[in-house]
Amino acid sequence: MKVGVPTEVKPDEYRVALTPAGVRELSDTGHEVYVQSGAGDGSAIPDDAYAAQGAQIVADAAELFGVAELIVKVKEPQPPEVSMLEPRHTLFTYLHLAADSTLTRGLMASGATCIAYETVEDTRGRLPLLAPMSEVAGKIATQAGAFMLEKPLGGRGILLGGVPGVAAANVMIIGGGVVGMNAAFIALGMEATVYVYDRNIDRLRELDIAFGGRADTCFASTLEVEQRLPYMDLVIGAVLVHGARAPRVITRAQLGLMKQQAVLVDVSIDQGGCFETSRPTTHSDPTYEVDGIAHYCVTNMPGAVPITSTYALTNATIPYVVHLASAGVVGAITENPGLKLGVNVAGGQVTYVPVAEAVGVAYVAVDDALGVAA
Ligand SMILES: NC(=O)c1ccc[n+]([C@@H]2O[C@H](COP(=O)([O-])OP(=O)(O)OC[C@H]3O[C@@H](n4cnc5c(N)ncnc54)[C@H](O)[C@@H]3O)[C@@H](O)[C@H]2O)c1
Repeated sequence: MKVGVPTEVKPDEYRVALTPAGVRELSDTGHEVYVQSGAGDGSAIPDDAYAAQGAQIVADAAELFGVAELIVKVKEPQPPEVSMLEPRHTLFTYLHLAADSTLTRGLMASGATCIAYETVEDTRGRLPLLAPMSEVAGKIATQAGAFMLEKPLGGRGILLGGVPGVAAANVMIIGGGVVGMNAAFIALGMEATVYVYDRNIDRLRELDIAFGGRADTCFASTLEVEQRLPYMDLVIGAVLVHGARAPRVITRAQLGLMKQQAVLVDVSIDQGGCFETSRPTTHSDPTYEVDGIAHYCVTNMPGAVPITSTYALTNATIPYVVHLASAGVVGAITENPGLKLGVNVAGGQVTYVPVAEAVGVAYVAVDDALGVAA
C-alpha cells in the first residue's frame, strides 16, 4: 500500500505521525512510504533520515494526498486537508468528532474512511492510541498549572509545593484516568496537596493503591466537587466518556465559589471541554480569564514537546499502521475488533454511535457503510 505522512498544519503542532523507524517497518513489509518534505522538522527528524529508511520525499501536501492511499496524521485534518480527501483514502489520526460537527460533515462529504486514534480500543477496553498522549498531557497539565499560578502570569501567586512552615497549594483533578493519574503524579512530585475525583469506584481503588496514600481519592458527585472547590488553587479537568462530548463538571456559577486568580486547566477541551467556560486555545495564546479565574484550554498539549510526543505516539500507532497497510481496512478491522471501533466515518456515513448522537446524524454500522458482506 502507498502510505503518506503529511506535515501537520494545525497551529503550534510540531509532532509527526511516523518516525524513520516506522518507515523501516513499512518498507520491510513491502509498502511504499511518502513523506512530505519538512514533516519531521518540528520533531528534529530531517528528510534525509526518512529517505535513508526507504521513504520517498514529496514536495507538498497536494502531491502527498494525490499519491497516498493510507494517510497517517497526528491532529484532525484542517479545512484544506479535508478538501483533498477522496473516497479512495483511509485517514488514520486523532479526530475528536463529537465536539466538531463541521469537521464530521466535511469528512462525510469526502467519502474517505476515517479512523480515529482516540476510539480504537484494546482487548481490555482501554484506549491504546490515546494513552501515550494522555500521559504527556497529564504531566504538562500540572506543569502549566504551576506556572500559571505565578503572580506575574495572572495567578494567585502560590508555589505548588509550599515550603517548610507554609502550606502547599491544593490541586483538584477531576477524572482519574490516564491524564488524571499522570497529572497527580507530577503534582505529588512537586509536593502539592492532591485530590483526585472520579465516578468509577474501581478506578478510584486502583488510584488509591497507586498513590500509596499520598493523594486523596474522592467520588465525583456534584456536591462533593462543589464543597471542595472553594479551597482549590488549581483544578485540572481530565474526564472522558469514550468518543462522546466531554461531560460538564464545573459550571460558570460554580466559578463564583472559587478563590480569585485560581487556575483551571481543561485537558478534556479536545472533546469539547469539561468546564462550562472553556473554549479552545493554542500554545501561542494559551490562557484567558473568566470571572477572575484563569483558564488554560490548549487542544494539542503534547504538540509542545514533540521530541517526547512523536516517539510516544508512533510507538503505539505503528503496529496498527502496518496492519492497515498489509491487510487493508476491511481485513484489518475484521481481524482486530478494537481497530474497528476506531472507524468513525466511512462511505459518507457516521459509523460511531457517540459521534452520531453528538452531531445529530444517523448512525450506520461500519460493515454496512463499507459494504462488507455479513
Ligand atoms: N488537550 C490535549 O492536548 C489532550 C491530550 C491528551 C488527552 N486529552 C483528553 O483528555 C481527556 C482524558 O483522557 P484520558 O486518556 O485520561 O481518558 P481516560 O478514559 O483514561 O480517563 C477518563 C476518566 O474520566 C472519568 N470520568 C468520566 N466522566 C466523569 C465525570 N462526570 N466525573 C468524574 N470522572 C469522570 C472516567 O471514569 C475515567 O476514569 C480526553 O478527553 C482526552 O481526549 C487531551
